[in-house]
Amino acid sequence: MKTARQQPLLQIRGLKKSYQKRPVLKGINLNIFPGETIIIMGPSGCGKSTLVRCINRLTEPDDGQIIFDRIDVTDLPFAQLSALRRRIGFVFQQFNLIRRLNVLENVAFALRVYGQEKAEAQDRAMRALARVGLKERAHNYPAELSGGEQQRVGIARALALEPQLMLWDEPTAALDPILVSEVIEIMEELVRQKATTMLVVTHEVGFASRAADRILFMDQGAIVEEGPPAAVLSTPQSEIGKKYKKLLKT
Ligand SMILES: Nc1ncnc2c1ncn2[C@@H]1O[C@H](COP(=O)(O)OP(=O)(O)OP(=O)(O)O)[C@@H](O)[C@H]1O
Ligand SMILES: [Mg+2]
Repeated sequence: MKTARQQPLLQIRGLKKSYQKRPVLKGINLNIFPGETIIIMGPSGCGKSTLVRCINRLTEPDDGQIIFDRIDVTDLPFAQLSALRRRIGFVFQQFNLIRRLNVLENVAFALRVYGQEKAEAQDRAMRALARVGLKERAHNYPAELSGGEQQRVGIARALALEPQLMLWDEPTAALDPILVSEVIEIMEELVRQKATTMLVVTHEVGFASRAADRILFMDQGAIVEEGPPAAVLSTPQSEIGKKYKKLLKT
């Protein structure tokens, strides 16, 4: 799938971030190629969310460069940042749905903000809802849905923008175990369809082993190991990798 001459969709170079002088990202380097699914795993507090949030500058990096489709994100004035965020979908752990809007309106909302006509926005929102199996629930309100369904709305909301890159920050972490699989199934279907390039933070090691082109293990603000799942989950070199390997066996 990946050829030597292909340009990365996303290049992260020497990315650093500190909070109150405490380094949280210590110089991250990462290239992601079009169509790839990259999965990030690592212990709580190692900097996974900070890394993902720096990509579209929900968190401001201190140092380093982020280049998305040849655009230097780190240098971008705020007005252009908004146009860029439209091309990068984000699925959060807490679904962040708007309670007073129904499912269809939640999905159409971003499209409307970005200037789409109501009819077109609703049409695209409906198609996105169909992809996550929720067309029939379009007129329900978030409070009327299960956690798994709410997260599927969150996925539809990101998909409706037809993003070139989708960032996922522990999309199943707020769900009870029974509901995790319905969200994982949708994510795997998106990977199978090569719907978009994906960067996923998750502890779901089974999903990672099936879906990832590459897994990155992070520890204390650094990428400590990286490779295809068959390699890093069967013969991990890092301490973190060894812990995830044990999880896979249970
Ligand atoms: N806004 C903030 N102000 C101060 N410290 C922060 C802030 N955001 C994150 N941190 C700290 O930075 C470190 C990395 O946080 P981050 O949320 O990136 O970790 P994580 O790997 O996503 O963890 P988890 O698996 O628990 O989500 C943590 O020690 C956290 O307390
Ligand atoms: Mg996090």
